[in-house]
Amino acid sequence: MAQAEPIVRIENLGTNFAGRWIHRHLDLAIEPNRIVSLIGASGCGKTTLLREILLLQPISEGKIYLMGDCISGVNISENQRRQFACHMGMMFQQGALFSAMTVLENVMFPLMEYTDFDRATIREIARLKIAMTGLVAGDVADLYPSALSGGMRKRVALARALALDPKILMLDEPSAGLDPKGAYELDVLIKTLQESLGLTVIMITHDLDTIWGIVDEVVYLDEKKVVLHASVNVAAKQKKIAGLASFFNSPRGRAASYYREILKQSEVGVVYASNRQ
Ligand SMILES: Nc1ncnc2c1ncn2[C@@H]1O[C@H](COP(=O)(O)OP(=O)(O)OP(=O)(O)O)[C@@H](O)[C@H]1O
Ligand SMILES: [Mg+2]
Repeated sequence: MAQAEPIVRIENLGTNFAGRWIHRHLDLAIEPNRIVSLIGASGCGKTTLLREILLLQPISEGKIYLMGDCISGVNISENQRRQFACHMGMMFQQGALFSAMTVLENVMFPLMEYTDFDRATIREIARLKIAMTGLVAGDVADLYPSALSGGMRKRVALARALALDPKILMLDEPSAGLDPKGAYELDVLIKTLQESLGLTVIMITHDLDTIWGIVDEVVYLDEKKVVLHASVNVAAKQKKIAGLASFFNSPRGRAASYYREILKQSEVGVVYASNRQ
């Protein structure tokens, strides 16, 4: 079967902050319709990498391509930057909602910034996105983020990330701070949205249940670059990369590997394990 054109391709990326290299000679190609987990030690540059793909952070070396178009050049016009940005939605660490805006205003925000729709249309689209994340728009639209539970806040952040119908959804530690039930429900939601909307999902997560439950591929960052990009099964079995081997083979890691089997036997397992062996 022919390989799909990568939706994101990164070539020889270098990131230098005040003389210190965070990424160097980093290559990565992400194919469409996958759920990819970015893992690596704290401070290795995972969030920075997502910010660079999102055009929120300039790079020092190399190239980033989005659906074949180079997006990292200095000659990109503001108009082009806005067009590229619309293809990507981001849910930041901790949800990062605007605390002075209501739920509805938060989800309307990217639509106000990036589209010419009138306010009434934007309001309707925002309500639809809220409903897509399993919340009842009528119940939550006028609430401020401080009045929401952690799980609800994540869903609103997800609705805001999906506001512009992006092709790529990026998530930074989505299940952090959620209880096991909330984390499981968020996983199911992410997988359901990925399948129904045909999204490519790039998520930073060290949640082993999420990785075994819904992730297709693991990208492991170390030594300033990608040292492994493989399916979850292959990543879990390799022994050459000590940090990764201990991650998957710790008692928690081994227990989580049974989680996929349990999910296959449950109703939702059909959704979860559908496109993997
Ligand atoms: N704008 C910036 N200016 C200077 N240094 C930065 C900047 N952004 C990030 N860094 C540094 O780059 C390194 C990578 O940061 P980053 O937040 O990408 O790591 P991370 O892998 O996401 O870590 P964590 O798992 O703790 O979230 C850190 O040392 C950080 O201090
Ligand atoms: Mg981070």
